[in-house]
Amino acid sequence: MLQKIFSGVQPSGAIHIGNYIGAIKQFLELQEKNDCIFSIVDYHAITVDYEPKKMPERTLDAALDYLSCGIDPEKSILFIQSDRPEHTELAWLLNSITPVGDLQRMTQFKEKAQKEKEVKAGLLNYPILMAADILIYKAEKVPVGEDQIQHVELTREIARKFNNKFGKTFPEPEAIIRKGARILGLDGKGKMAKSNPSSTYIALTDTPEVIREKISSSVTDKGVESKISPGSQNLFTLLEIFAGPNVAAKFLEQRKKGTIKYSELKPILAKAIIKELEPIQKKRAELAKDPERVKKILADGAEKLKPEAQKTIKEVKEKMGLMI
Ligand code: AQP
Repeated sequence: MLQKIFSGVQPSGAIHIGNYIGAIKQFLELQEKNDCIFSIVDYHAITVDYEPKKMPERTLDAALDYLSCGIDPEKSILFIQSDRPEHTELAWLLNSITPVGDLQRMTQFKEKAQKEKEVKAGLLNYPILMAADILIYKAEKVPVGEDQIQHVELTREIARKFNNKFGKTFPEPEAIIRKGARILGLDGKGKMAKSNPSSTYIALTDTPEVIREKISSSVTDKGVESKISPGSQNLFTLLEIFAGPNVAAKFLEQRKKGTIKYSELKPILAKAIIKELEPIQKKRAELAKDPERVKKILADGAEKLKPEAQKTIKEVKEKMGLMI
């Protein structure tokens, strides 16, 4: 059955293989048989300290990444979040039913707040905007990485609360998670993230030389300890995803016997990643020659969504007793 899908990626830095495995690869499968809406969520990216001058380029880069990975504007709608003002309008309305305590207990808020000199209200309210992104289109499924599960859960609670208070309006959306939903950084410490040093992630645009260098410097255990370290486990996961389960199983077996040589595993992994990214990078270079075409795809996407977004706002305002 055709399902309504929504997900987004922040233009907060170079899109990396964590975003690719956890989110974008799912989008590619889902767009074949569903009604998919994918967004570059720029309003989310401004909730932490950021460089305004870099934002237009990062937004275009995110669009190039989406399209070069295979998001097809004939099958999915691709747009920039800030081009559809109804997202922030709905977020404001949902603000009025969301307890502050629910926002304060969000893991991502607590982690990101620690890194900020001054914590902005936008960072706290981020999950309400995310709920609005999803609910404005009454999406039923949200393909995301593990770090976003809690926000999708909160979206469900917000939808439930709204329905109970004002009458059935929204479906309760569910997260879709796949293998590799939490790829670690190459230092083995925490999830691979755009805001961490570039040596800890592999960007979709990294050259083969850079990929080989980063993988070769990735942190592993010594290969003999009884417990496999998170960094090594992460390499096995990446090997399974990029080189296939048989290759991963062979090295995992060696690890269990204590005979593994990571110096043999690493070039195989690097080669597999380079092979997968090669056609994506080729397509990206082609698309980058015509930024106006890419901008038109984004503008058309936002325009297509206008009637649906406006309809939800009208319905929500009516139900909340606001005069329209
Ligand atoms: N390490 C990861 N492994 C698997 N999936 C991941 N995602 C993010 N990191 C990983 C998923 O990618 C989608 C887009 O993420 P995002 O751009 O919304 O922001 P994020 O989760 O905050 O990503 P980053 O890369 O970690 O950025 P910064 O450094 O800005 O925080 C989401 O579905 C996410 O789950």
